[in-house]
Amino acid sequence: MSAPQKLPATFHVKSFGCQMNVYDGERMAELLAEEGLTAVDADAADLVVLNTCHIRERATEKVYSDIGRVRKNGRRQGRDPLIAVAGCVAQAQGEEIVARAQVDIVVGPQAYHNLPQLVRRAAAGEAALDTDLLSLTKFGTLPARRRTGPSAFLTVQEGCDKFCTYCVVPYTRGAEVSRSFAAVVDEARALIDAGAREITLLGQNVNAWDSDGKGLHDLIRALDRLPGLARLRYTTSHPNGMTQGLIDAHRDVETLMPFLHLPVQAGSDRVLKAMNRSHTRDSYRRLIDRVRLARPDIALSGDFIVGFPGETEAEFAETMRLVDDIGYAQAFSFKYSPRPGTPAATLPGQVEAAVMDDRLQRLQAVLNREQHAFNVAAVGRTCPVLIERRGKLPSQMLGKSPWLQSVHLLTDAAIGDLVEVELVRADPNSLAGVERLRRAA
Ligand code: 5AD
Ligand code: SF4
Repeated sequence: MSAPQKLPATFHVKSFGCQMNVYDGERMAELLAEEGLTAVDADAADLVVLNTCHIRERATEKVYSDIGRVRKNGRRQGRDPLIAVAGCVAQAQGEEIVARAQVDIVVGPQAYHNLPQLVRRAAAGEAALDTDLLSLTKFGTLPARRRTGPSAFLTVQEGCDKFCTYCVVPYTRGAEVSRSFAAVVDEARALIDAGAREITLLGQNVNAWDSDGKGLHDLIRALDRLPGLARLRYTTSHPNGMTQGLIDAHRDVETLMPFLHLPVQAGSDRVLKAMNRSHTRDSYRRLIDRVRLARPDIALSGDFIVGFPGETEAEFAETMRLVDDIGYAQAFSFKYSPRPGTPAATLPGQVEAAVMDDRLQRLQAVLNREQHAFNVAAVGRTCPVLIERRGKLPSQMLGKSPWLQSVHLLTDAAIGDLVEVELVRADPNSLAGVERLRRAA
């Protein structure tokens, strides 16, 4: 703990991990700005907030080196910035962080509305730790949304009751809770007024969202009617929550983009069962068939874990076969990382690092090939691209296709414009496009 010091005038929030952390980071920044603090670069900030991720061991360990770096940089400049650790590592290891790294503030993902108060306590040299898990109370006290880019995140649901045996989320984010229909619609309106043309609804199990008997598809249909909103997306989903209503929304709702992130994790039924996934390889495959029937051009994305305890070569081959069957437009894949307190961490048959490396490499090679094939297949199509930022070249702008591909093009369109673009070439990480028509912003 630092010696008593004066209240900070400037801050910097750095978020790691998932999109919900990005959203939380934005909300913390809004909150600190409302308190009169100014956002600056990390090197110049009186208060540095590290918004952390606990999902895998490597992400967690990074927190400690980051804390060290902030301290060292500050000292080199003769400063002693307040350091706040927020996010899922704060939730899981609050006391340990205070003991091991001497940070000033520890604040969990459900408690960050109390950040201003914690900052005042820390500045007075008092202990400042809040890892209360009382879900959703924070939303009632956060300031209204005021500024955003053309593409904005909106958290509608938090937490997880699924308890996959490898996962810390149910412990760091708490039980599944949905924000109310009215709260979500209000925030969507505020985001549109602040410049958003696309909104991505976020939740650890976003398709488990429900409020007064309404499901995510009802929410999507309601948001679709908001004037000024051009695009809707949602992430991340669990196969259990893919109701027929949601699948139908992919067929009927024009603003709902043809993209679905639906993690399967593994292709072997034995492994899926040991993961407590509550779906099988075939039930997942049938689900994807129904989604594709409703929206044939949908881009599919997934998450995969290789080397879950006990995974044999034959079981891994089933994952490879499933990937081959489905054909993903993009995906995330990870080596299994044992997380303290989760059931899988103590299972027998932990897989050797070298075996995991090898499997991950083979899986990523197929996934990359599929991604490239998906992009190549898009060449020749003309589609709307939402312009999000400037490119490196003069007059070059970067945006997203409906299928979430990055597209670069030469145009005098502005950030936030929707431009009709012909996709002309698939580069390794993006598509080249040529402008065909402009729609008014
Ligand atoms: N080890 C490796 N990957 C994990 N994920 C979650 N927990 C672990 C873990 N212990 C992956 C899953 C999940 C994504 C967000 O992170 O694939 O869908
Ligand atoms: Fe973790 Fe499974 Fe919940 Fe996803 S569904 S957050 S993987 S426990």
